[in-house]
Amino acid sequence: MINAIEVNNLTKIYNPKSKNAVTALSDFSLTVEIGKIFGLLGPNGAGKTTLIKILLGIVFQNSGNAKILEEDISNYKVRTRIGYLPENHKFPNYLNGEDLLKYYAKLSGYNENDLSKRIDELLALVKMNKWRKTKVKKYSKGMLQRIGLAQALIHNPDLIFLDEPTDGVDPIGRKEIRDILISLKNEGKTIFVNSHLLSEVELISDRVAILNNGKLIKEGSVEEFTTQKEVYEVKLNKEFDSDLITNLLISYEIFEFKKESFKVKVKDETELDKITDLLRQHDLGIRNLNNIKTSLEDIFINLINKN
Ligand SMILES: Nc1ncnc2c1ncn2[C@@H]1O[C@H](COP(=O)(O)OP(=O)(O)OP(=O)(O)O)[C@@H](O)[C@H]1O
Ligand SMILES: [Mg+2]
Repeated sequence: MINAIEVNNLTKIYNPKSKNAVTALSDFSLTVEIGKIFGLLGPNGAGKTTLIKILLGIVFQNSGNAKILEEDISNYKVRTRIGYLPENHKFPNYLNGEDLLKYYAKLSGYNENDLSKRIDELLALVKMNKWRKTKVKKYSKGMLQRIGLAQALIHNPDLIFLDEPTDGVDPIGRKEIRDILISLKNEGKTIFVNSHLLSEVELISDRVAILNNGKLIKEGSVEEFTTQKEVYEVKLNKEFDSDLITNLLISYEIFEFKKESFKVKVKDETELDKITDLLRQHDLGIRNLNNIKTSLEDIFINLINKN
């Protein structure tokens, strides 16, 4: 397994000697596998942008180290293989979309003679062809994000950092950006996304991490985050009397009674077996047994509140 990003014990303190010192990252470690979409979540001020800026050499850590694409981050040459969409980016206002992409292609050292074809491709990908001759200063927020994404991809990078890519983008535009990110992943690219939009991150990320006050709270697959192993919804074949079930399953935690279903919290599968046996013995046929999923948002709010 090759890692696209390896972060070891990074600490970043802004203004360390002043009384306004801010610890933006505290002993933070993380790895991101190559070819995956990784979502970094956290409330405002958690340290998400600081992490990206350290990885890209825009700010420097106080301690710890990190590698991107197997090179130490101090090796600036690796940055030619990186794409970056900053949060609240400010593009030169006087350029139009097409010239903006040319400009960033040059900055990133892309000097292939197929540049105009590449620009056509990217404008089509982010659906900005119609606006290619319009000055950036006239772009809406969503259009700025689309051209920003094209900018991040212009030199065909292997690893792409996107800081709040769907900020200000409408729901259809967000779906289109998600689809673009998935197709980039299918091409083998690694994508690192900072976002507040948990429902979106949930839809595309392979793994997610939650950061709060500069500390890693939890990291795992989306599946691990959202599956509550211990809660099941039990659907019965017919309507039932909730008192009957309550008495029958008196030693278990049951809740959310509906016409033909209820939820139960169990410690393990043996307990679940006991419950299903009890129900069957009382002629209560089970139609369906579902492990309950929680949204990433609920998990996030719980974790942040606890810390
Ligand atoms: N240049 C700076 N000088 C001083 N403090 C800073 C600087 N940049 C960020 N900070 C502080 O560091 C902390 C982390 O900021 P950061 O921008 O990394 O958070 P974030 O998770 O990206 O937040 P948001 O979701 O609002 O973008 C915050 O308390 C912020 O005020
Ligand atoms: Mg930020």
